[in-house]
Amino acid sequence: MPLLDAFARPLENLRLSVTDRCNLRCQYCMPEKEYSWLPQPSVLTFEEIERVLGIFLRLGVKKVRLTGGEPLLRRDLEVLVAMVARQTGLRELAMTTNGVLLADKAELLRKAGLQRLTVSLDTLDAATFRLLARRDDLDKVIGGIDAARAAGFVDLKLDTVAIAGVNDHEVPALLAFAKERSAEIRFIEYMDVGGATQWKPESVVSRAQLLASIERVHGTVTPMPRDSAPAERFSLPDGTVFGVIASVTQPFCATCDRSRLTADGMWLKCLYATTGTDLRGLLRTGVSDAEIAGVITTEWHARRDRGAEVRAGIVDRKPLVERDELRATPHLEMHTRGG
Ligand code: GTP
Ligand code: 5AD
Ligand code: SF4
Repeated sequence: MPLLDAFARPLENLRLSVTDRCNLRCQYCMPEKEYSWLPQPSVLTFEEIERVLGIFLRLGVKKVRLTGGEPLLRRDLEVLVAMVARQTGLRELAMTTNGVLLADKAELLRKAGLQRLTVSLDTLDAATFRLLARRDDLDKVIGGIDAARAAGFVDLKLDTVAIAGVNDHEVPALLAFAKERSAEIRFIEYMDVGGATQWKPESVVSRAQLLASIERVHGTVTPMPRDSAPAERFSLPDGTVFGVIASVTQPFCATCDRSRLTADGMWLKCLYATTGTDLRGLLRTGVSDAEIAGVITTEWHARRDRGAEVRAGIVDRKPLVERDELRATPHLEMHTRGG
């Protein structure tokens, strides 16, 4: 029997951030010059991650996704992947990466037991990449995607955050790029979460606009059956499948089975949550696995989070958190809570 929250949503999906550091500075996530980083000693060791993950798996978690910041900045990540992959109860092990360091690591990760990869790719234009990510690394990202394919990641996904006037005109071309590589691309509505301090309603490219621009170039889009995943999937006349993640205009909180663990062990029950449960404190003070499981169970039973739906009800919507507050509370950052 899965653990159910107050709205009968199961605890099945855990997003595990392994570092808050990132080697890009995407404007929808990290637009500032300076950041407050998590103190190094507070970051969970591989052994601590393994232990807490074991507890989550025994409580019913089936899918684990490694995230960051940029997860490949965590030293010896493939060692952690192997430790996670051999845990019992795990049905799916995936990772979301920006791809910059992927070319060197793809094969090691595959051998260590990573099953699925999602690479963020917002543009195919070097100048736009520089503007969006403030680094000159587009070639590395594309090289990383190709290396992932070559290493045998057949279930490869690409994630594109669409921003009006920045990369929205590239949506059909990005879709064609994904098709050439047999990767499933998902277009994500720009969210007002975490570090998105430059967010404004006019910058969001809605699901409806995304579908219209795709139809103009690629033909009729047909919706496919839905599950609990954030992405709504569609097919094109030639059989190509792509997704849209409409967190802003059509939130999917009603079926949300996800929670997040930050690199320093803060457990967050919603992407928009402003407070979390300090599991590191429990892990480091000699509390037993059964007691930690008890805390997680009680917290999940009480979960009533529906952050994106609540945000959708706000008139005159502005970024969720102000800059000063982010500096004082890094846990509110998207790069800390794992994208
Ligand atoms: P699969 O479809 O199972 O591969 O995983 P996924 O879609 O959860 O993974 P991914 O990391 O690629 O997520 C894509 C994007 O969807 C994230 O970067 C977020 O922008 C958004 N997203 C993921 N999870 C949530 C969530 O719980 N709430 C909201 N509002 N958005 C989410
Ligand atoms: N809006 C939508 N998605 C975001 N991500 C980070 N910030 C935002 C935001 N403001 C997600 C994207 C990106 C991943 C690292 O995190 O999917 O590819
Ligand atoms: Fe889940 Fe919160 Fe995202 Fe809604 S906003 S889908 S409850 S994480």
